[in-house]
Amino acid sequence: MKQHAETPTLTATDQATAPAVVFDKVSFAFDDHVILREISLSIPKGSMSILLGASGSGKSILLRLIMGLLRPDSGAILVDGQRVDQMTEHDLLGLRGNIGMLFQESALFDSLTVAENVGYRLYEETDLPVDQVRDRVDEVMGFVGLAEFGDRMPSALSGGQRRRVAIARAMAAKPSLLLFDDPTTGLDPVIATTVDDEIVKLRDLEQVTSIVVTHQIRDAYYVARQEAVTENGQTRIVPASDGKAAQTRFMVLHDGQILFEGSGTALLASQDAYLKEFLFMTLPPW
Ligand SMILES: Nc1ncnc2c1ncn2[C@@H]1O[C@H](COP(=O)(O)OP(=O)(O)O)[C@@H](O)[C@H]1O
Ligand SMILES: [Mg+2]
Repeated sequence: MKQHAETPTLTATDQATAPAVVFDKVSFAFDDHVILREISLSIPKGSMSILLGASGSGKSILLRLIMGLLRPDSGAILVDGQRVDQMTEHDLLGLRGNIGMLFQESALFDSLTVAENVGYRLYEETDLPVDQVRDRVDEVMGFVGLAEFGDRMPSALSGGQRRRVAIARAMAAKPSLLLFDDPTTGLDPVIATTVDDEIVKLRDLEQVTSIVVTHQIRDAYYVARQEAVTENGQTRIVPASDGKAAQTRFMVLHDGQILFEGSGTALLASQDAYLKEFLFMTLPPW
């Protein structure tokens, strides 16, 4: 379909059929420190992608590029078919309203209650009536299993609970795209699993597109291989079928490029020397 340069506005149909996120030969460097070189990727709507990579490989930078917090040196970045890399700051604000981001450190406001934290964007950035904001806050707090914690201060929560509050906050405005930046960093494996379970529930019970950035292989495989099911109003996390598990796409960022893209099972079977070392160094039993 032809589009005139002076009319970049997409129709509703274009936006509905466009992938959630597209990178087309995106490069990014800090001065002469190249972080990403000509990366291309496409994230289908409604999918979950897990972006793995060692610390410092550029995972957080990639998420910041999606949100337009950084601009690429070259290449194109599209979210819902719209060129993020060319957007004005004003349009970027609108775009970010539709993206939920869980930052690496939960980044809760310590002087606000848990419920105020969760509803913050709805209070500040929408004109939803206060009672509707409260309803939505209750709903998402219930979703992450913290319905009773709304009046607490963040300092009165455990690390895992804080992370789940941050997830509730990220999903409160019903974003169509959720970005998780190392959601389980610094948590022990048992607590990490409670956070992973929320990510599984978001994928299976709410039809959001999500990108989960992590350097924790264990969490990546846990999320891909579990499934949330609801029976008689009760949600349980159960092992996923192989077919379902294969739907979660793995990508590995290394040396500025997407070194691997495919299913978790295909990643484990890879004969690439770097990937074997990356998996071997971090997989159980170590
Ligand atoms: N503001 C900055 N200025 C210069 N270098 C940066 C900046 N932020 C990050 N970097 C560097 O970019 C690389 C990728 O960072 P990052 O995306 O945070 O990695 P990670 O994969 O651990 O999330 C790292 O080497 C980091 O030191
Ligand atoms: Mg990071």
